[in-house]
Amino acid sequence: MAVTIRDLRAFKERGERFVMLTAYDYPTARILDEADIPVILVGDSVGNNVLGYDTTVPVTMEEMLHHTRAVVRAVKNALVVGDMPFMSFHTTIDEAIRNAGRFLKEGGAHAIKLERPVIEVAGAIADRGIPVMGHIGLGPQSVHAMGGYRVQGRTEEDARKILDEAHALDKAGIFALVLEGIPSSLAATITESISAPTIGIGAGPRCDGQVLVINDLLGLGFGSYPKFAKPYADLRSAITQAVQAFRDDVVSGAFPDQAHSYH
Ligand code: KIV
Repeated sequence: MAVTIRDLRAFKERGERFVMLTAYDYPTARILDEADIPVILVGDSVGNNVLGYDTTVPVTMEEMLHHTRAVVRAVKNALVVGDMPFMSFHTTIDEAIRNAGRFLKEGGAHAIKLERPVIEVAGAIADRGIPVMGHIGLGPQSVHAMGGYRVQGRTEEDARKILDEAHALDKAGIFALVLEGIPSSLAATITESISAPTIGIGAGPRCDGQVLVINDLLGLGFGSYPKFAKPYADLRSAITQAVQAFRDDVVSGAFPDQAHSYH
């Protein structure tokens, strides 16, 4: 059955932990959907995981819509969330609403995510009937402003600020909140004190749900993995072995054999 934002709220109320995963293409989204992953995020992490950018900063609306459409075509049940890229919601509220609308109208997504504590913008988009997922703590789009990817909320003052942002976004009407790169104790306090379900990444175990970037989970990364990411497979090695086996078979004349030829 199709997952809706109401299901996420129900998970929280029942104390049932849930997952979200990123996907950027049709085959991956189809596998996730058929594996009963309830929420698929077309993350702007497509920038550094698929498109070869160093950061998520260069990712454009057109790139996000292109990948969102591919994911949506594959999905029958999961809730698909489109990630609003850097500078698509930063200038005016009108532009933010227009771009959020494009994710639903042109991308086919069910909801959007805003990676910043932009309370007014979140409220204005939610008021237009577009479900909004918040995202606070470490925001990779702000890598240059943070001076690198740094855990946020370590000082009392910083933690208070993030807690206030969570409360304000909850009041503004978000349906879920991603907590990234913050101490576990702060994530637990936020989770216990807001009505929207929280989804952690590098935020410890006491969130309502957890999200990972699919490339990290599958072991498709090129450098080292962040501390919070757990590769559950080593697809990079599996792919390397498969393509080298193919090359060796072709070079030796073992492929194509009779079984893989027309007669
Ligand atoms: O773009 C992304 O993959 C994300 C997740 C890390 C939450 O925003």
